[in-house]
Amino acid sequence: MAVKRDALVRLLLLTVVARGASGAKVPAMFVFGDSTADVGNNDYLPGSSARANFPHNGVDFPGGKPTGRFSNGLIGVDFLAFSMGFKKSPPPYLSLVANAANSSSSSSSIEVTRNVTKAAASYMTGANFASGGSGVLDSTGTTINMTKQIEYFSDLKDQMKTRLNANRVSVLLSKSIFLISAGGNDAFDFFSQNKSPDYTGVQQFTEAVISTYDSHVKTLYNLGARKFAVIDVPLIGCCPYWRSQNPTGECIEPLNQLAKSLNDGIRDLFTNLRSEMQRMKYSIASSYELVSSLIENPEVAGFEEVKSACCGGGRLNAEEGCTPKSSCCSDRGKYLFWDLLHPTQATSKFAGLAFYDGLAQFVSPITFKQLVEA
Ligand SMILES: *[C@@H]1O[C@H](CO)[C@@H](O)[C@H](O)[C@H]1NC(C)=O
Ligand SMILES: *[C@@H]1O[C@H](CO)[C@@H](O)[C@H](O)[C@H]1NC(C)=O
Ligand SMILES: *[C@@H]1O[C@H](CO)[C@@H](O)[C@H](O)[C@H]1NC(C)=O
Repeated sequence: MAVKRDALVRLLLLTVVARGASGAKVPAMFVFGDSTADVGNNDYLPGSSARANFPHNGVDFPGGKPTGRFSNGLIGVDFLAFSMGFKKSPPPYLSLVANAANSSSSSSSIEVTRNVTKAAASYMTGANFASGGSGVLDSTGTTINMTKQIEYFSDLKDQMKTRLNANRVSVLLSKSIFLISAGGNDAFDFFSQNKSPDYTGVQQFTEAVISTYDSHVKTLYNLGARKFAVIDVPLIGCCPYWRSQNPTGECIEPLNQLAKSLNDGIRDLFTNLRSEMQRMKYSIASSYELVSSLIENPEVAGFEEVKSACCGGGRLNAEEGCTPKSSCCSDRGKYLFWDLLHPTQATSKFAGLAFYDGLAQFVSPITFKQLVEA
């Protein structure tokens, strides 16, 4: 489709001009959601299977280091943080907690003070609470559910109040970005149990997810959040894992329909919330549209492989997750997907550009950039 192609070409032009941002444009960025946004919280969950802190993950990360990101390198929230002028992506919240805990159990009081100060100082520019495997519904997955992620944020807000008075914390939070990237795992779970859901089933599921989403957003609003940057549910039926489960190797359409239903629900939800909560602002980015555009026009982005995973095993390299023993492609810039479920750094870079300052088909009703500047 020509329209999608043009929008992608415009993104390539942005790649050239996007450099050179200096200084954060918002005080802080707080990130919630699943593995599409997790930068290493699950590294602190011993025994969890939803972890990525081993090779080949991170093969293109600075230093070739696996960090817990489900990627060969950086993920979308990293690129978004850079676009917002942050030098670093907000750190995993559990790394801050672990550092502070380690410091307080140490014997060197000077080092303890220094570390606690450092940890508290890094809270001030944000943190990432996202946890691979989690969903909008607390019953989805076995990692850090959304309710717990928001509780952690509330703890962090209390920490902030030990450094700034309550009024200044409120002002800081009201100008900060609250990014949410969730919903895909809820759809996976539902679909795994209902391979051919009927209309009523999909409606009921969507309503349950959206009413829970509603209560999470309201809780964050009551804690001081005003600027919501939302990433919708990806085109999950086209990820390599689901293609590998389809004898034809094509996308699983009922799963994409489920994602679409959730995404319509998310858009309606925020339209309604906006009229209820006068001071909230929001922008919704479409991971669904971006991946769909890239699959239709891979050559624009320099992709040659949009079906199979770069790292994994089995059919389409996607019946198994990416482990140190997996086969891993060498031309990672040519792959849309890194592993059975997650995009490559190259795709995430496109996503960052599209969501920050792309056309309305990728981000609306305003761009993340406009949300930042509002
Ligand atoms: C905290 O200390 C434990 C035990 O000494 C160690 O295994 C862990 O990696 C440390 N965590 C951090 C974040 O430094
Ligand atoms: C302080 O933090 C550094 C890294 O940030 C760590 O190597 C060191 O062990 C920490 N010190 C204490 C006393 O925990
Ligand atoms: C959500 O997480 C909290 C904290 O880990 C836990 O107590 C609660 O049972 C979880 N909720 C569900 C429905 O799993």
